[in-house]
Amino acid sequence: MVLRQPQSILVTGGAGFIGSNYLNKMVPAYPDTLFVNLDALTYAGNLENLAQVCDRSNYVFERGDITDFELVAGLFDKYGFDAVVHFAAESHVDRSIIDPTAFVKTNVQGTLVLLQNAKAAWKEGEGLFHHVSTDEVFGSLGSKGVFTLESPYAPRSPYAASKASADHLVRSFGTTYGLPYVITNTSNNFGPYQFPEKLIPLVLNNARTRKPIPIYGKGENVRDWLYVEDHCEALEKVLLQGQDGHTYLIGGSEEWSNVDLVEALLDVFDAITGQAKGRSGELITFVQDRAGHDFRYAIDSSVTQKELQWRPKHSLKEGLVKTVTWYLEHTDWLSNILNESYRSYYQSQYGDR
Ligand SMILES: NC(=O)c1ccc[n+]([C@@H]2O[C@H](COP(=O)([O-])OP(=O)(O)OC[C@H]3O[C@@H](n4cnc5c(N)ncnc54)[C@H](O)[C@@H]3O)[C@@H](O)[C@H]2O)c1
Repeated sequence: MVLRQPQSILVTGGAGFIGSNYLNKMVPAYPDTLFVNLDALTYAGNLENLAQVCDRSNYVFERGDITDFELVAGLFDKYGFDAVVHFAAESHVDRSIIDPTAFVKTNVQGTLVLLQNAKAAWKEGEGLFHHVSTDEVFGSLGSKGVFTLESPYAPRSPYAASKASADHLVRSFGTTYGLPYVITNTSNNFGPYQFPEKLIPLVLNNARTRKPIPIYGKGENVRDWLYVEDHCEALEKVLLQGQDGHTYLIGGSEEWSNVDLVEALLDVFDAITGQAKGRSGELITFVQDRAGHDFRYAIDSSVTQKELQWRPKHSLKEGLVKTVTWYLEHTDWLSNILNESYRSYYQSQYGDR
């Protein structure tokens, strides 16, 4: 049942991985709704991701920082938003370990600025603040169990702690000021337009260029993988049908250890590129484990599936085939995004590989 049909939506971080997949889906699907993409274009933001929607009349790009209160206030005035879909974040755990400062600024202070502006612009009970968050706020699981709506918050990395803080702020604006909100906590995404510091595009890029493929520790850490298109479909349903004050857990129910995932990915890569099975696997190199590395994530999406009539359409293997095909067809995109700042960061992490 559709509860709302927003007319003017502020989408933050729409030039990043998930935000661009979301806009590429939503902008053509809702031609009568205006989508305003506010993005600072950090190293992770790339307007090339939005080439298919940038000329549409219901899409506008505004470059700016979500921590800039005056700028955000001006955008609320100019566009009269009746919903915010908030993706913008510093999103890479490894970077948060090296320096958490930007994570607190963007993920916590930036979320607060958006909430304050939404509260100022909307009469009580009006509008919807959709906060896009992660299952990492729940910490780490042992070999058994899953995250549920009852799981306590127990973030373990600066990234997860900053996202947990943002989740708390969003809920506090709901209970204290009556600001309508929904929160989505989602497992690891993969698919087109993901910045190649994250595991799957990093592996593909290194396989393509025959560089060592680093895997932390023994590769035993387990993640629940979700193809990004399936995530965006769930986000669309949450926007239209999600109940005020509810949290929706979204996962792929595809638990894979890192080493099994990388081997499956490389098998797909070798098959599509016509190489002998196992050739790219020779590149796997085990490297020193990430500090405080969460052992396992697994998320129970059953409530979301039932309430929103949603379920992931892609198995992990189907998603991997689409993903490998996409990256091989977009090697220019990969080369362009691997700019100087990324290369020096990569070098500081993994050496001259
Ligand atoms: N990628 C995943 O697997 C995953 C899983 C669960 C939740 N999430 C959450 O989904 C959201 C999107 O993740 P992603 O992987 O697309 O991230 P991303 O790093 O690919 O993109 C982040 C985007 O935010 C922009 N941005 C960063 N700081 C900003 C600022 N101060 N002002 C304006 N824009 C800014 C960047 O330019 C970039 O376009 C994040 O909130 C993340 O926590 C991601």
